[in-house]
Amino acid sequence: MRTGREYLAIPGPSVIPERVLAAMHQGSPDIYAPEIEALAASLQADLKRVAGTKHDAAIYIANGHGTWEAALCNIFSPGDHGLFLANRHFGLGWAGMAERLGVKAEVLDFGRSGAIDVARVSEVLKADQAHKIKAVLAVHVDTASSAKNDIPALRKAIDAAGHPALLAIDCIASLGCDEFRMDDFGVDVMVAACQKGLMTPPGMGFVFFGPKAAAMRESAKCVTHYWDWKPRADPQEFWQYWDGTAPTHHLFGLRAALDMIFEEGLPQVWARHARLARAYWAALDAWSAGGPLKMNVAKPSERSHAVTAVSAGPGSEGLRAWLTANTGVTLGIGLGMAPANDPARDQFFRIGHMGHVNAQMVLGVIGAIETGLTALQIPHGKGALEAAAGILAG
Ligand SMILES: Cc1ncc(COP(=O)(O)O)c(C=O)c1O
Repeated sequence: MRTGREYLAIPGPSVIPERVLAAMHQGSPDIYAPEIEALAASLQADLKRVAGTKHDAAIYIANGHGTWEAALCNIFSPGDHGLFLANRHFGLGWAGMAERLGVKAEVLDFGRSGAIDVARVSEVLKADQAHKIKAVLAVHVDTASSAKNDIPALRKAIDAAGHPALLAIDCIASLGCDEFRMDDFGVDVMVAACQKGLMTPPGMGFVFFGPKAAAMRESAKCVTHYWDWKPRADPQEFWQYWDGTAPTHHLFGLRAALDMIFEEGLPQVWARHARLARAYWAALDAWSAGGPLKMNVAKPSERSHAVTAVSAGPGSEGLRAWLTANTGVTLGIGLGMAPANDPARDQFFRIGHMGHVNAQMVLGVIGAIETGLTALQIPHGKGALEAAAGILAG
């Protein structure tokens, strides 16, 4: 049953549209040709449109980790304090990286099954009378737990505490999937990468920054030549966009991906992700009613529209492998839910529903999971496909 078009339904890298692949399928261009310069300028402008910012954007030849380091370097000096709000895996990772740079990373850990508790953040900020905390850093969506945070609420909490800290947000798993408007949400720094909602092969990362962050960069001692966002955001010469050779084929691919997003309309892209996510949740609710499967995040308002983390319980360890081998659908591994060498690790999986995804793909995955649950005799409630179809039917 496997032979046919396979579907990698993992939470990034996401499905690459044919149009993006086709745009990349060409020989090397002259990197100093005027068309390449124009392409770079168009991408920078359109990335800002997707991010919802009028301020600055720096493009890096890097994955998400690269953008983490870029953001940290441009705002911090060794010994500075940063308040990291973690919904586990990725929030903790960003904090760990900051410590390696000599930043004093204070971590508030909100566990792995829900959003940040903004009231706790308020308390910490109010207690910081000396304003030692330079920045508050959080993920919009933690791809491991699939928890989503309320970013405008965080901004409000910082302002209500009368605290001058900068707000830096990781939108690596949410940009182009979940509604995010950087300037309206009061975000000072935002990091993202191209391989999820932006539907382009991994290898490009973006850091967006507002005026307050730009001012911090002037005194930040962690900033290095390569990670400096200033020349990238406002290059005096073309090569400074990338600090060297342009990532030409990524630029071609990203241009096609952004064209697709604007042709559909950004609000429509967000609405599609929201509807498809609700279809998965309806199916999962149906399965949960008669078995051990359950979504990691209980509250719908705290769930990502781009990824859903699931715990499938003892006896489900073979499900992912069965689906790949027998249906051509590959789900994402559970991340950060059990130690790497613990067999319980395989009781978790994640469904990626980010980027180039439509209703038939979602229904196909739900049907495939239903088939796997049946074949492996994993107890589950009935009616998942009907429940999902009901959501998609409107
Ligand atoms: C929320 C989040 N932050 C950071 C990263 C790290 O990005 P990368 O794997 O591209 O380095 C990821 C990767 O999945 C992510 O989902």
